[in-house]
Amino acid sequence: MKNLAVLASGRGTNLQAIIHSVKKGFIKADLVLVISDRKKAFALKRARRAGIEALYADPKRFSSREAYDRYLVGTLKKARVDYVILAGFMRILSPSFIRAYKNKILNIHPALLPAFKGVDAIPRAYRYGVKVTGVTVHLVDEATDHGPIILQEPVPVSDTQSVAELEARIHRVEHRLYPQAIARLLSGTLKVKGRRVLSR
Ligand code: GRF
Repeated sequence: MKNLAVLASGRGTNLQAIIHSVKKGFIKADLVLVISDRKKAFALKRARRAGIEALYADPKRFSSREAYDRYLVGTLKKARVDYVILAGFMRILSPSFIRAYKNKILNIHPALLPAFKGVDAIPRAYRYGVKVTGVTVHLVDEATDHGPIILQEPVPVSDTQSVAELEARIHRVEHRLYPQAIARLLSGTLKVKGRRVLSR
């Protein structure tokens, strides 16, 4: 069994979906650790409630991003974590972190990348007037919201939909798509060829 860790800064609804999928055996791995850079992140509560080790790591205790990330990698290695799942973790990982877990860090983004990278992707796509947006799960590389794509799913935007309704719809898709992508990554059947992730 592989070990997973989830890094989250906020509500943790994706974390909740992952906890559920691990419990059901759909994700065949152990979720051993949840780390947050925010003390009040609800994700930490969700982890503790599920009996998972939950760690608040305060970035202000470290002199630089690199030092903080070295601490995170050390903590993950000590917990024998094989895969790192970013679920609303609002920090950019440093190159040394990405090298330490090459092709073993996943991120979820609430838009069809490469469109609407960065924060507030859903309201930005809505205001732009797109007719289709969606969800992307990708491997993390050194550029933001950029690495090879594992799964994407489109979400249509209807004329009568409010931005809140679109957000809700996208989150529902995320909660299904992220566990699927994690299960796929764990299956060992994926091959990364440049930017393309292929099933073998
Ligand atoms: C999700 O929309 C995800 O796509 C983005 O951050 C949000 C996290 O939401 N990266 P939650 O904390 O999992 O509810």
